[in-house]
Parts: sequence; structure tokens; C-alpha cells
Amino acid sequence: MLDALQRLPDDPILGLAAICREDSNPNKVDLTVGIYMDESGVCPVFQAIQQAQRTLVEEETTKAYLPPAGDADFNRGMRALVFGGDSDALAAGRVSSIQAPGGCGALRIGAEVAYAAKPDARVWISDPTWPVHLPLIGSVGLEFSKYRYYDAVSHGVDFDGMVEDLKQAGKDDLVLLHGCCHNPCGADLSLDQWQVIADMAEHQGFIPFIDIAYQGLGSGLDEDAAGLRLLASRLPEMIVAASCSKNMGLYRERTGCAMFLCESADNADAILSQAKVAARRLYSMPPAHGAILAGKVLSDEQLGRIWREELLAMCERINGLRSQLVDSLQASTGRDFDFIRRENGMFSFLGLSEANVRQLREEHSVYMLGSSRINVAGVNASNIDYLSKAIAAVL
Ligand SMILES: Cc1ncc(COP(=O)(O)O)c(C=O)c1O
Repeated sequence: MLDALQRLPDDPILGLAAICREDSNPNKVDLTVGIYMDESGVCPVFQAIQQAQRTLVEEETTKAYLPPAGDADFNRGMRALVFGGDSDALAAGRVSSIQAPGGCGALRIGAEVAYAAKPDARVWISDPTWPVHLPLIGSVGLEFSKYRYYDAVSHGVDFDGMVEDLKQAGKDDLVLLHGCCHNPCGADLSLDQWQVIADMAEHQGFIPFIDIAYQGLGSGLDEDAAGLRLLASRLPEMIVAASCSKNMGLYRERTGCAMFLCESADNADAILSQAKVAARRLYSMPPAHGAILAGKVLSDEQLGRIWREELLAMCERINGLRSQLVDSLQASTGRDFDFIRRENGMFSFLGLSEANVRQLREEHSVYMLGSSRINVAGVNASNIDYLSKAIAAVL
């Protein structure tokens, strides 16, 4: 039976990263996968997480399953982190949450619950979006429509196009929005634009489905959640998928949280029961390690302070790299790359052609996605000159 199956192509992003790993050029530059890397090219473990881990090792007395909704400190901490400690919706008990295996697991649980509520809901996704949204959400059975989002000429959001397209989103359709640090383009909505989306959702009755995988890596923890919080203050319902992969460095621990803003506390409780049944059907029980660590960081004042400082340093470094990259690229190429400074988070489209990207890879061992999306956090003091000169050479 199994011998009837063909080999499938590798995931395009992971496949490219694997080719880069095999490249023996000592000057190679890896700007492919969206993981944060420090000055020495290492994806570090946060000090706060290391401390929490040491405590956990000393204290842990069992490896029995967590409860089906996951660690209680983690859930409480994540709801406050995302919705804000002073959120009226939280105070009214209108938000329920379930721990999930990464932001991906949270997206999947969110989609499963939406499908249970309305199997013919459409999911409106930005053009472009993170490619993994399609299999993760689509395999639940929901259909997609695209809305215009990125304007390659202005290197910013095509907000008029987005609004025009979203006028067709119907009642109870889901509109998938990147909470901050849009992947792949780095262009985010302004607060005024979030207001317009809130007006439309109120008027048309569509449900925002917010993917927030980079909170704290754009401008700050509260600033990055401002749009989401604005929607939560005005709308009856919303689904949120949050990830601790990037902002706590817990990538391999698979730590995420699906949250449901509901009309009432009773409905939030009913929705949690739906989410638990979906999780039971998919993987039964949540992974414990990462969520317990994140729960400690979010509930302990001292650990929380250390984590916030580390995250802020990371965020400032990325923003510093953006400026340095603009200056270096402008000096090498004589072209205007200032848009990189205006974007948020780890990603940027450089605006290079596929032929340029191929030449960079084949002749200079500089690796980025075919769309010329780069992970800004892959740039550092020792590769920035080489990178800019290589880009100048292919241009
Ligand atoms: C836009 C976006 N959403 C969600 C995720 C989910 O990440 P994870 O499942 O690793 O937490 C990622 C990871 O790269 C992402 O870029």
C-alpha cells in the first residue's frame, strides 16, 4: 500500500535552508527561515527561559498529562499578554483560551472551531500571506478568498485595495489578519486602518481571525497588540492564534495559544469545550514543557521583567539592523531601500527579481526566498557588507 505513494517535494522554505546548510562557502548568508539569530548567527535561549527551566527541573514531580486546555498559568498569562491586563472583555470572562502546539496548532484549533460553527464560512487571507496558512486552515475544509494587501511599488499596504476586497466578506466569514510584523512583507496596518477594519467588521459581521506570532518584535509588546486590542474593544467575536516561538524563543517546544473572544462568558465556556474536543480529536493532549516555562515567565514578576528586557533588546536590534541594512544597501547600490526602515518585525521583501535571487544564491551563496523575502535577523555585522555588495553585483 505505502509503496504506491510518491516522494513529495520538500517544503520550499525548509528545503532552501537545507541547501544553505550544505553550502561550504564560508561567506554564505542564510536569510531564509524566520527564526531570530543573534550577532553570532545563533538562535539563543532567553535567560528568563533558562532560569524557569532550572526551577522546573528542580520542582517537577510528575510527567502526567496536563489538563486538556493546558497549563493554567500559561493560559491566564497569554490572555493578559495578548488582550492587555486591563481588557474589559477579559474582566467580563468573554475570552476563553486553550494551549496549543505552537502558533500553528492554535491556528488549526481556531479553524476547527470556526468550521464547527459555520462550515461554509470563507477565510479571507492577505495577498501575500504566510504560505503555511493554506494547508493548516484549508485542510479543515474551509474555503479561501484573497484580499489585496501588499503594494510592491510603494512597498507598503495597499489599504484601498484591501478595503475594496473586504467589502465582499460576508457575515460570519473569517478575515485572517496578521496582528503585527506581517509575514512575509513586514508592512503593518496603522491604528487608523485597524479602526476602519473594526468599522467594517461591525457593519458586515465578519469575524477577525488574528495570527499574532511576533508580538514584541515590531515596536513593543503593547504596541504590537494595539490593533488586535482595538478590535477586541469593539467587536463581539474574534479568534486569535498566538505563538511563543519567536518572542520567547520556544520554537521547538511548540508553545502557542488559541483564544476566543465571545459575546458572553457562557458562550466563551461553550467555545472552550468545542476547542478541547477539537484538540482531543487531533492530538489528544498538549505538550507541557514550553507552556510551563512560558507560564512561569508570565506569572513571575522577576522572570517577567528579565524576559521583557531581553525581548526589547531583540526588538531594538532588529530595528537597528533595518537601518544599517538601508544605509549599507544604499551605499552599495545607489538605490532607495528606505522602505526597510518603515517595516516591522523580522521580514522584508527586497523587491528583487527571481533571476536576481537565483544569481545571489548560485554566485554569492546568499540565500533568501524566491520572492526576495529576507529574514532581517539573519543580517549581522560580519555579513552586512558582503550581502550589500552581492546585491549590488546582481543588480
Ligand atoms: C505568520 C506566522 N504565523 C504563525 C506561525 C507559527 O509558528 P509556530 O507554530 O512555530 O509557533 C509562524 C511561524 O513562522 C508565522 O510566521
